Amino acid sequence: MARVLVVGIATLDIINTVDGYPGEDAEVRASAQAVRCGGNACNTAAVLQQLGHQCSWAGTLADDASSAIIRADLASYTVNMDAVQVVRGGHSPTSYVTLNQRTGSRTIVHYRDLPEYSLTAFQQIDLTGFDWLHFEGRNVAQTRAMLDIARHRVPAVPRSVEIEKPREAVESLCEGAKLLLYSRDYAQSCGLTNGEMHDPVAFLQTQQQSVPTAEHICSWAGQGAWGIGRQGKVLHSPALDLPCVMDTLGAGDTFNAAIIHAKLADLPLADCLRDACQLAGQKCAQQGLRGLC
Ligand code: ADP
Ligand code: FRU
Repeated sequence: MARVLVVGIATLDIINTVDGYPGEDAEVRASAQAVRCGGNACNTAAVLQQLGHQCSWAGTLADDASSAIIRADLASYTVNMDAVQVVRGGHSPTSYVTLNQRTGSRTIVHYRDLPEYSLTAFQQIDLTGFDWLHFEGRNVAQTRAMLDIARHRVPAVPRSVEIEKPREAVESLCEGAKLLLYSRDYAQSCGLTNGEMHDPVAFLQTQQQSVPTAEHICSWAGQGAWGIGRQGKVLHSPALDLPCVMDTLGAGDTFNAAIIHAKLADLPLADCLRDACQLAGQKCAQQGLRGLC
């Protein structure tokens, strides 16, 4: 069991399951609806808890009715919330998710106006009790400062950063991390292609050249994931071959949790990729994150 701090956002996910993705201006009836806590950091924490670790979540919460649902959900996974910063009078970020039961695709419309987690709140966390620190690559200037504080206060504790969306200066979060977890969207936004196709290998090689001290991993949906180690060797793991993809919401967050779990056990990169594709695949074959392991 390791103690893991995850820094990032919580959302209220309102998930409508539909039989085929609706066209614009259509009116369709959902076959099911679920309302629960989401957000990359919180999803990753929920999976890490199920893998036997003790997670603390550092992020902001509003004090509205939705935040009570978010809190209850995280509490049900026994995620520690001591570091949470409450924004009085704030509104919980919401994601309206359309889950296509024919393909498992999840289309997300996200709205947030809640302030991001502050540097002041982060400075109050006692980092000495943690074995791993994981950050969402957002709120760039403040997160960069948090990474620097962590490096200064607990240099031996590994830091991972998820780089999911192309944001201004997000690359500045790569320096000093032990592990960088990229999304396919981010890799594609960097524009490296092999013929007509986006090229995860060229992307990872470029990242490795710019931060050679880190391991770099990029998940690529149904094609699995690629990784590059400090020696520059590129590895690939195929995705699990699923007869039916039920729900891909949070697949990347599950993948990241499984990678952190494998790194905590000091597994070689090839095994990390294999295990993470296995668990993320299992997630795609079921609804939600509960009962994954
Ligand atoms: P995100 O949820 O961030 O968009 P990805 O789509 O890259 O992340 O998915 C993360 C991981 O989930 C992939 O590396 C893969 O292992 C697994 N996965 C995603 N889609 C599928 C699928 N259709 N079949 C099997 N595994 C999948
Ligand atoms: C899935 C997810 C959802 C959330 C959205 C936030 O990866 O974390 O739970 O609504 O992404 O961007």
